[in-house]
Amino acid sequence: MKILVTGGAGYIGSHTVLQLIAAGHQVVVVDDFSNAKASVAGRLEELSGTSIPIHSFDVADLDKLNGLFDAEDFDAVVHFAGYKAVGESVANPLDYYGNNIGATISLLQAMDRHEVRHLVFSSSATVYGADPIVPMTEGLPTSATNPYGWTKVMIEQVLRDLVVAQPDNRIALLRYFNPVGAHPSGQIGEDPSAVPNNLMPFVAQVAVGRRDKLSVFGDDYDTVDGTGVRDYIHVEDLAAGHVAALHWIAEHDRTISTWNLGSGVGTSVLQLVNAFEKASGVKIPYEIAPRRDGDIAASVADPSLAHRELGWQTEKTVDDMCADTWRWQQANPQGYP
Ligand code: WQD
Repeated sequence: MKILVTGGAGYIGSHTVLQLIAAGHQVVVVDDFSNAKASVAGRLEELSGTSIPIHSFDVADLDKLNGLFDAEDFDAVVHFAGYKAVGESVANPLDYYGNNIGATISLLQAMDRHEVRHLVFSSSATVYGADPIVPMTEGLPTSATNPYGWTKVMIEQVLRDLVVAQPDNRIALLRYFNPVGAHPSGQIGEDPSAVPNNLMPFVAQVAVGRRDKLSVFGDDYDTVDGTGVRDYIHVEDLAAGHVAALHWIAEHDRTISTWNLGSGVGTSVLQLVNAFEKASGVKIPYEIAPRRDGDIAASVADPSLAHRELGWQTEKTVDDMCADTWRWQQANPQGYP
């Protein structure tokens, strides 16, 4: 199939682009490069062995989007493009609502105009809200504790309403747990533009000498060791989940499907630090700091629905995630050039 990947120059998008090409699909990327570097394009072409058309514009630009849909005959869209920093969304809610929801509406309008009916949407476990029942199942009610999370909740609702009005759409909502890791080549990976908000890239930057020490945000949670527990998923497993979902919606009549993409395994902050030290051979200095606003004690997926329906499950372990992250970080201490 010919697939449009929005945000395909980003962390999860770039890994998914490689797996779509490896699965035999033709990929076209659109990315505004607000959170990605141009140098990822060369890495992707090198790793995929093929040229990948990359269009640099904002998905919200409906004229440019229609121009692209006029020029290419897409079979489906995988939609990653969006801002994703929780703290930033609290400070700039209008940017987040405008960009994340606005871009999605433009994309849906262009798809409708060109009768492109298959969509895989990048959602997030953050839609399970402040106090989820763990492990989380797809039927739980959704809510959020920050504008970023609300954009995901709202876009899911837009898509549920869309398929009522246009039942020939086939849509997959993929709720990511905590994506980490990097392509085993070490040539593409997570490259936060500023101080990393997320744990794994911060730990990797401590290990490579870019940061002095890790602040552990609270050790008084009701968890195995008092630190936050999360369901880390290797970005390669996550990318494979997108390919599986794309194939499933192409072969089934359900208008909209929701799948958790997680491992079902919880790992605490200190357990992740320990695993990273083992993988890198580098001691990670840390201090216990106050809890971070909005953090929950534990978030772990029940991934059984995706396993049952998609035949998909995670294969990589936390040790693999740390080893692959470390290889990427060592080869690219400052991220992408
Ligand atoms: C993981 C754990 C922190 C940094 C967020 C978004 C989610 C998704 C992934 C976009 C927590 C602790 C972290 C640090 C720490 N993003 N931590 N020191 O908060 O589970 O999820 O990112 O889709 O939507 O909500 O991920 O990596 O920030 O935190 O102690 O310097 O690590 O308290 O327990 P989180 P995270």
